[in-house]
Amino acid sequence: MSISDLGDQPNVVLLHAFPVNRGLWLPVAHQLGQAGFRAIVPDLPGFGESPVSPRNPSVEVMAQAVLSDLDDLGVDRFCVAGLSMGGYVAMAMLRLAPDRISGLALVDTKMAADAPAARDNRYAVADRAEAEGSLDFLVEAMIPNLLSPITIARRRDVVDTVSGWIRSTDPAGVAWAQRAMATRPDSTEDLAGFTRPALVLAGADDTISPPAEQRQIAAVMQDTELVLVPDVGHLSAIEDPDAVAQALIRWAGRVAD
Ligand code: MLT
Repeated sequence: MSISDLGDQPNVVLLHAFPVNRGLWLPVAHQLGQAGFRAIVPDLPGFGESPVSPRNPSVEVMAQAVLSDLDDLGVDRFCVAGLSMGGYVAMAMLRLAPDRISGLALVDTKMAADAPAARDNRYAVADRAEAEGSLDFLVEAMIPNLLSPITIARRRDVVDTVSGWIRSTDPAGVAWAQRAMATRPDSTEDLAGFTRPALVLAGADDTISPPAEQRQIAAVMQDTELVLVPDVGHLSAIEDPDAVAQALIRWAGRVAD
């Protein structure tokens, strides 16, 4: 997979959302690097510069791809932060390699599996992406849900950047990831067993992973800080990188202590 690797130890792996790429995390990664952490930011399979996986779609396949990249970098233990789909992948990494994860940050994500209607919608989106071979329909459908009303009104640069990321994604990667997310399991038990430093962070205006759901995730884990960033929607890392970086630096600092 393609990867950005910035700064020094301890290692912080940053996993991006659907249907964007590692650019989502780069402003935060630079701040982590300046604060003395090593930020490792992959493109998940099928996104950015990473090819679509030839394997059957699952979040575990994405997690294995990240773990294999970390092996190649010689990284054994790490903190991992995942935003939305990246959070699903982080939870799969927790199932596959619990002893390697020294801190977990779940950002604008969900611990529950999909309800049947949401799963059916994913299969419909996957089929449409493949049939149309273009993601213009996703830009139109997703921007109002990905970004807060304030970001959309005041930050044309962010709207354009995110729209460009979606348009440049491979429709085959979108279809694969939708089918992968549709089969993901409930992660509540995995999170309940996690005892190391945890962070649950979301935009206060996130309608995809709303604050009430974030409070439930924070209550399940044992050593958790909950942060809700004002005026920010689902893509918090690009809507307010400074606030997100500050929270991650605090969390990674707790791991390093
Ligand atoms: C994301 O931002 O990664 C998506 O909202 C995840 C999802 O479709 O569940």
